[in-house]
Amino acid sequence: MINDLWYKNAVVYCLSVETFMDANGDGIGDFQGLQRRLDYLSGLGVSAIWLMPFQTSPGRDDGYDVSDYYNVDPRYGTLGDFVEFTHGAKQRGIRVLIDLVVNHTSNEHPWFQDARSDPKSPYRDWYVWSDKKPANANEGMVFPGVQKTTWTHDEKAKQYYFHRFYEFQPDLNTSNPHVQAEILKIMGFWIQLGVSGFRMDAVPFVISEKGAEVKKPKEQFDMLRTFREFLQWRLGDSIILAEANVVPKENLAYFGEDGDRMQMMFNFHVNQALFYALASADSRPLAKAINDTYERPATGQWGLFLRNHDELDLGRLTEKQRQKVFSEFGPDKHMQLYDRGIRRRLAPMLQGDRRRLELAYSLMFSLPGTPVIRYGDEIGMGDDLSLPERNCARTPMQWSTEPHGGFTKNDKPILPVISGGPFGFEHLNVAHQRRDPNSMLNWMERLIRMRKEAPEIGWGECVTLETSDQGVLALRYDWRNNSVLVVHNLHSTPVEVEFSVGLGDHGEKLIDIADGGNSKAEKNGKHTLLLDAYAYRWFRVGGLDYLLKRKEV
Ligand code: NOJ
Repeated sequence: MINDLWYKNAVVYCLSVETFMDANGDGIGDFQGLQRRLDYLSGLGVSAIWLMPFQTSPGRDDGYDVSDYYNVDPRYGTLGDFVEFTHGAKQRGIRVLIDLVVNHTSNEHPWFQDARSDPKSPYRDWYVWSDKKPANANEGMVFPGVQKTTWTHDEKAKQYYFHRFYEFQPDLNTSNPHVQAEILKIMGFWIQLGVSGFRMDAVPFVISEKGAEVKKPKEQFDMLRTFREFLQWRLGDSIILAEANVVPKENLAYFGEDGDRMQMMFNFHVNQALFYALASADSRPLAKAINDTYERPATGQWGLFLRNHDELDLGRLTEKQRQKVFSEFGPDKHMQLYDRGIRRRLAPMLQGDRRRLELAYSLMFSLPGTPVIRYGDEIGMGDDLSLPERNCARTPMQWSTEPHGGFTKNDKPILPVISGGPFGFEHLNVAHQRRDPNSMLNWMERLIRMRKEAPEIGWGECVTLETSDQGVLALRYDWRNNSVLVVHNLHSTPVEVEFSVGLGDHGEKLIDIADGGNSKAEKNGKHTLLLDAYAYRWFRVGGLDYLLKRKEV
């Protein structure tokens, strides 16, 4: 059923067309601007681009409120520009994934407008209605503090409609076969225009039973198989990357035990434990999260990330762990959001400390899965906490020292470019960093290369090693007779750490992938490493003799 497992060992770069590069000077990023920056992305070495929603939308939830699934929002260009872009990406060997937002539409979508205007409308049953306000209307809000309810009265329909998210995002009745057929049609459309798959928004809600009478909604997992099958009938190597923040015991239901549902899922569980590890210098909960989410079908893969366009959701940590992360990375109320998360970008959370940034990315790039980075992370971009909600971390890309960071020639960019202070475009921008071999950008390029050269991480078995210090995480990957070992020191101080590679004689010698230096085990078969504060080391396991033997050269 699968033609190519490219996503098992890829590096994904997520961006919003709106804030990446404005070519026509109207202050809004567009596909022509993105097209001009394809060489930059190719130089960085990414294997796939994930585009956040760019379809026609009133833009009240940054495009996650679609009003026409079959078009590009005119502010970003035309379908023609889109195809030029996918073609340009293909020429450079970069795949394109796009957001698929089908749990809900915009309330301005013609389907909803038709549905509300007449109970006999063929679209009425595309949404979820109730005559009375359901008793649980004040439960299950995704944006607590901002969103008041999940059922809103519609004057025209004279009924309440269900919305898991904001009131302008009515939920689609995804159990309706016509809605399901339409979802397939939408996927088929974009596949035809050159994409390699979708980041599917809010998957648990898409497949959840919906309705005023539903007390304990069940997930309709079969739907996932239907989506997957359709996609691969149309294009064998296309994938779905699911946004599903669920507890580990549910993971397999999303991947499908036989690997017949989602090819990829974001690993929210590891994401939260990773931030706790960075905040507390305790690697144990992270090691546990890695092990708890380890099981997946051979063709399944995790999407790993640090920060994304939403808040850093800490909802699955214990209260004590969550408070630790808040106190380290988002102590002020205005840095927090929805009672569960932090809305800042990574670099300001880590006070722009290069050592900590490198540690965080090296760790994320070497956990089991496929790393997903977000535009601007490669230069350590900051945030603007004066902007509301999640907009603070969605400011335009900082390209140069030109006005508005070279993002636009217009005086009024869609969102203000960060200016002044340590993260301002005046000295934090791509142009500067390209020229500086020691910049974050050039470091990131090297990290991407290193990750691509260690396919063991994407493909192999991962083993968590015991170390003499709980602040040091050591993981070994074994694949096709090769092993890679990654070691991270979470402490703010240097440590001497002892561990055994666990491969008997074969693990005696470690060769540093970055600087070629060696480490040899002592008589007891254990390695002792002296690690600087926040140090990270990637090793290939085995001396040359051993490697020659194992690699069948
Ligand atoms: C999840 C997206 O990541 C978020 O940005 C959006 O607001 C909701 N889904 C609703 O579509």
